[in-house]
Amino acid sequence: MELSRLLLLCLVTVWVLAPPAAAPTTADVPVSLSPGCARNARCGGIDVPYPFVIDEQCEIRPGFYLNCTTEGGTTTLFRGHPNFEVTKISVQDNKVWFKTYISRQCYNESTKDMMYNDAMLNITNLPYVLSADDNKIIVLGCNSLAYMLSNTYAVGCLSTCKDTIPKVNGSCSGKAGCCQMDLPRGVRYYHGYFNPLYNTTQIWRTNPCNYVTVMESAAFNFSTTYLTSSVFYDRDQRRTPVVMEWSIAPNTTCEEAKINQTSYACVSNNSYCSTNDAGYVCKCSDGYQGNPYIIDGCTDINECIVPNRCPAGNCINTLGSFTCLCPRGQSMIGDVCMKNQKSTWMAPVVGASIGVVVLVVAVTCAYLILERRKLQHIKQKYFRQHGGLLLFQEMKSQQGLPFEIFSEEALQQATDGFAEQQVIGHGGHGKVYKGVMKDDMEVAVKRCMTIDEQQKKEFGKEMIILSQINHRNIVKLLGCCLEVEVPILVYEFIPNGTLFHLIHDNRSRHISLDTRLRIAYESADALAYLHSCASPPILHGDVKSTNILLNGDLTAKICDFGASILAPSDESQFVTLVQGTCGYLDPEYMQTWQLTDKSDVYSFGVVLLELLTRKKAFNLQGPEHEKSLSMVFLCAMKENKLEDILDDEIKNSENLEILEEIAELARQCLEMCGANRPSMKEVADKLDRLRKVLQNPWAHKDPEEWDNLLGESSLVNSGALSTGNFSITKRVAMGLESGR
Ligand SMILES: *[C@@H]1O[C@H](CO)[C@@H](O)[C@H](O)[C@H]1NC(C)=O
Ligand SMILES: *[C@@H]1O[C@H](CO)[C@@H](O)[C@H](O)[C@H]1NC(C)=O
Ligand SMILES: *[C@@H]1O[C@H](CO)[C@@H](O)[C@H](O)[C@H]1NC(C)=O
Ligand SMILES: *[C@@H]1O[C@H](CO)[C@@H](O)[C@H](O)[C@H]1NC(C)=O
Ligand SMILES: *[C@@H]1O[C@H](CO)[C@@H](O)[C@H](O)[C@H]1NC(C)=O
Ligand SMILES: *[C@@H]1O[C@H](CO)[C@@H](O)[C@H](O)[C@H]1NC(C)=O
Ligand SMILES: *[C@@H]1O[C@H](CO)[C@@H](O)[C@H](O)[C@H]1NC(C)=O
Ligand SMILES: *[C@@H]1O[C@H](CO)[C@@H](O)[C@H](O)[C@H]1NC(C)=O
Ligand SMILES: *[C@@H]1O[C@H](CO)[C@@H](O)[C@H](O)[C@H]1NC(C)=O
Repeated sequence: MELSRLLLLCLVTVWVLAPPAAAPTTADVPVSLSPGCARNARCGGIDVPYPFVIDEQCEIRPGFYLNCTTEGGTTTLFRGHPNFEVTKISVQDNKVWFKTYISRQCYNESTKDMMYNDAMLNITNLPYVLSADDNKIIVLGCNSLAYMLSNTYAVGCLSTCKDTIPKVNGSCSGKAGCCQMDLPRGVRYYHGYFNPLYNTTQIWRTNPCNYVTVMESAAFNFSTTYLTSSVFYDRDQRRTPVVMEWSIAPNTTCEEAKINQTSYACVSNNSYCSTNDAGYVCKCSDGYQGNPYIIDGCTDINECIVPNRCPAGNCINTLGSFTCLCPRGQSMIGDVCMKNQKSTWMAPVVGASIGVVVLVVAVTCAYLILERRKLQHIKQKYFRQHGGLLLFQEMKSQQGLPFEIFSEEALQQATDGFAEQQVIGHGGHGKVYKGVMKDDMEVAVKRCMTIDEQQKKEFGKEMIILSQINHRNIVKLLGCCLEVEVPILVYEFIPNGTLFHLIHDNRSRHISLDTRLRIAYESADALAYLHSCASPPILHGDVKSTNILLNGDLTAKICDFGASILAPSDESQFVTLVQGTCGYLDPEYMQTWQLTDKSDVYSFGVVLLELLTRKKAFNLQGPEHEKSLSMVFLCAMKENKLEDILDDEIKNSENLEILEEIAELARQCLEMCGANRPSMKEVADKLDRLRKVLQNPWAHKDPEEWDNLLGESSLVNSGALSTGNFSITKRVAMGLESGR
């Protein structure tokens, strides 16, 4: 029962809070408001500033109409469904506060079983994203393992109480009864979900329920009563506040927006454009406030309203700023007004002024020098934190290591200052930029997201291992930059996109079975190498078709070791984290919390399926039972309908036996229990054999003669099979079994 629930990961749909937006969003929408539409509305006690409107006719950009409805004496402002309630809107910060649902699992006394209320949020077509800075994923419970599954990523957190119920109210300590995690950036969809193996059947008398929710971190204070009663769930009708960033035009950058001045939304004088996780937004310049989306919306701030702005003199407000003036007969010296002296005193005063100027210059210089030193110091600190010293020592002892330490400036230059248009990929752990170094060499530069102290220490060590890997099917790490807060890695640049792109994006392109098998073999070989070249083995942790790059002649190159570098190395007692990509995630890993080499084998099995079927691993749009490719495949195998799902392009009578072999191999990789899956080495060997079989055109002659010829399995490996007949199915399968 647990397994089937786990298999349904990413699949369960409970509540869709936001119905589809009315029209597809584009940036090319005019900004002017029709006559009769209010620029600033109010609903209940909430201000609804433009571009938000409460009159549907006035909606200028999709997603900005909010329904203000009074029912039974209470007024609510909401989007789509009355439960998707808005509590506050800020134009200044481009944020909007919503209420979102809590997921829970509870013990039900009458059925003596666990019951589940899973919550889901879907704002895919709206111009909002969940704010990664303001929200946290919060898990409450004494025996609870909960995940937040988003479009592509799954993160999980384990909350236990270790025998006793915690006795302290306050923050979420992560030690007992509560655990919290950062939210990935750009999340527009999530589903709170519990692992049923962690439940309250044993402790229900004191802790009946576990909870998981995404909520504004500032609005959360841990209370022991959240564990023992249902107040957390009930206090606001099963909801918690959540902060979203909104954008005037989703998925549009400032540069793109400025191209069309007619639709460019930052219309106020003294406003500017800025890009956030949702798209582009407008802001009033420094010294101005108001609404940048309205002509003349940004008005000057009167700084002089603040009492004592000028401690000694008169405050004079100017556009965008202010100045302090001294009363008549006095002048400003430093920060204070001093009485003007008689002319005989003029010389000393002038002297003093010059002295002050000289002093100021000197102090400024000293300050700048100090700052520079401080910066140097900080850079050195980061360098040490990231294992820089360790790395240098290692490199001294191993001369000739083709691994370079790049300076921050060099990488800034190579990537145009990490410009958005240089971005060639987004990973769960950071962005990848294309860069051109001084010597015209093209590189891929990966900037990681923030990582915590523990992970920083591990980082240097991991990088040494990666820098020593030299395999023709693994993207080469050329060097790194350690003097910045978050590490930057520099890889060789692979020009031909990803395997995902090859299989799914250009449908008309023919890909022969031979090419597919070669790509599969090369990837498997690279992973097998990773698993065997170091001890403990290097686990990739996020094998998927978007992490297999292709160069000019479609040679596969495994990339993105973000997950393997950053996988927590020790099993911390209370809090652990699991990450992966929906559709590829090993169900056993989700249960046991332990990443093994067999987790990579599982994910690779899914890649094999993509190659065989040319279908995506995970299809959010599909009907429930067809979302996960591995589910579809395993069902087809069970019902002997493999042929139905194979890609027509490679499906023909000559290939059929080999295709069945590959499918069988994929099935073994997808075994529920990791121990039953073949090792990566076995997978690579088998794919290699199949390739050779495919490349050698045999005539169907005499099966027995063939059997004799192939009496020893070593022959199968040798590739010396240019004549004779075959019963490959039996042969290769045997080869694999003997290898185990
Ligand atoms: C989210 O909503 C969009 C449209 O509103 C829909 O196309 C998509 O399938 C939904 N996603 C999920 C996982 O339900
Ligand atoms: C610019 O935006 C206006 C207003 O929506 C639109 O009519 C026009 O076609 C756009 N121009 C270009 C070049 O996209
Ligand atoms: C606003 O919400 C109410 C209550 O759900 C509904 O009856 C009404 O049709 C909605 N208005 C619009 C314009 O969608
Ligand atoms: C327990 O389960 C029963 C049967 O499904 C249901 O009627 C009852 O409401 C549940 N109890 C609680 C507290 O939800
Ligand atoms: C923004 O882009 C993402 C990813 O490309 C896509 O899933 C999403 O639907 C887009 N959102 C809108 C509102 O266009
Ligand atoms: C924590 O707060 C709740 C409610 O505010 C209170 O009932 C409980 O006694 C407090 N627990 C402790 C240990 O202070
Ligand atoms: C509760 O957890 C235990 C131990 O993991 C497991 O054996 C049991 O099946 C679970 N019970 C339910 C109802 O999920
Ligand atoms: C959380 O606790 C702190 C300190 O006790 C308090 O200042 C703050 O207002 C509380 N926040 C909430 C949302 O209750
Ligand atoms: C806005 O700025 C432009 C040029 O900077 C100026 O010509 C125009 O008069 C300004 N408008 C207002 C209302 O200040």
